[in-house]
Amino acid sequence: MVLSTGRNKVRTAVFISGNGSNLKSLIKFSKTKKSPISIDFIISNNSKARGLNYGKLFKIKTKIFGFKNIKLAESELLLNLKKENIEMICLAGFMKILSNNFIRKFKGKILNIHPSLLPKYKGLNTHRRALKNKDKYSGCTVHFVNSKLDSGKIILQKKVKITKNETESSLAKKILIQEHKLYAKAILKVFNP
Ligand code: GRF
Repeated sequence: MVLSTGRNKVRTAVFISGNGSNLKSLIKFSKTKKSPISIDFIISNNSKARGLNYGKLFKIKTKIFGFKNIKLAESELLLNLKKENIEMICLAGFMKILSNNFIRKFKGKILNIHPSLLPKYKGLNTHRRALKNKDKYSGCTVHFVNSKLDSGKIILQKKVKITKNETESSLAKKILIQEHKLYAKAILKVFNP
């Protein structure tokens, strides 16, 4: 990656839409000595996202963008990111699709976590589809974001076994636990390939 850590941690924004459990684990990781990043900005498209509470809890700046008019929202977002000197973005359960123009501005510096073993099950309802197909394994993937949905270069994946009486929610829970570990590992890998 083109980012250099130097002495200071790389200023990172996390984009969320919901619970923010991945955000919480990223914040915890960012506070460890080995972390190359600091979390300095939390962005949400949803004012009711529970994850926004972590902003208060950890004293991190948060901002909500409507995303009704994507062009407008993104240009305002870009200004805000610039103001905060944000160099890297981690998408963590962010349910909006960013435009090519936005992605280009942060080329190679946007990461996403996805709850499937990509390239399998891009998009939504990954656990449902894995169960429907009677897959033996599912898992999660951290990848770079490019212009195609869930298709950027894979950084790391973690496999999870699907057991006999697995339900969508039991599988989601199992995978989420792995997501929390995988995101930090993937960030370390990006900075120390
Ligand atoms: C995670 O499973 C993530 O992979 C997916 O949405 C979920 C978000 O969970 N894209 P949380 O908001 O981090 O708790």
